Amino acid sequence: MLNKKIAEMLNDQVNKEFYSAYLYLDFANYYADEGLDGFAHWYEIQAQEERDHALMIRRYLLNNGERVTFGAIGGPDKKFANHLAPLEAGFEHEKYVTSLITEIYHEASAQKDYRTMQFLDWFIKEQGEEETTADDMVKKYKLFGYDAKGLYALNQELSARVYAPSATAPQK
Ligand code: FEO
Repeated sequence: MLNKKIAEMLNDQVNKEFYSAYLYLDFANYYADEGLDGFAHWYEIQAQEERDHALMIRRYLLNNGERVTFGAIGGPDKKFANHLAPLEAGFEHEKYVTSLITEIYHEASAQKDYRTMQFLDWFIKEQGEEETTADDMVKKYKLFGYDAKGLYALNQELSARVYAPSATAPQK
């Protein structure tokens, strides 16, 4: 069993990760509608990764004898003014998720819950990578996205993303 507050924070994070998947699928919907299938594909894979994050935390809770409950997932409500907007929203969202993971880590540290800290180490690293990737997407778009050929090339590049399950991530 885990400390009650930590278990609640982790359970809440399961919901937040599913929301992230929902949000990125919403981005994919937007790009598909705009004819940018490479961008849509990239966010569809990102959504799969977010679902994996949710399932990893769910599994950690179950492995520690905790009951997992699912709350309602809110509908993404963003309207995008241009093709850059979802990329910027994605970067902001990842910074927000990092702050959530950091809060849980902080609580685990305060409770001397070294097992949860070790479990979250993977997420701390992952968030660093996700922020960098999201920032790179914004920068690349600003460099190349305003030119038709540049946008075409970027769309092609993003269409090559391959889903890789988070196989090395801890489950216990
Ligand atoms: Fe699960 Fe993009 O953080």
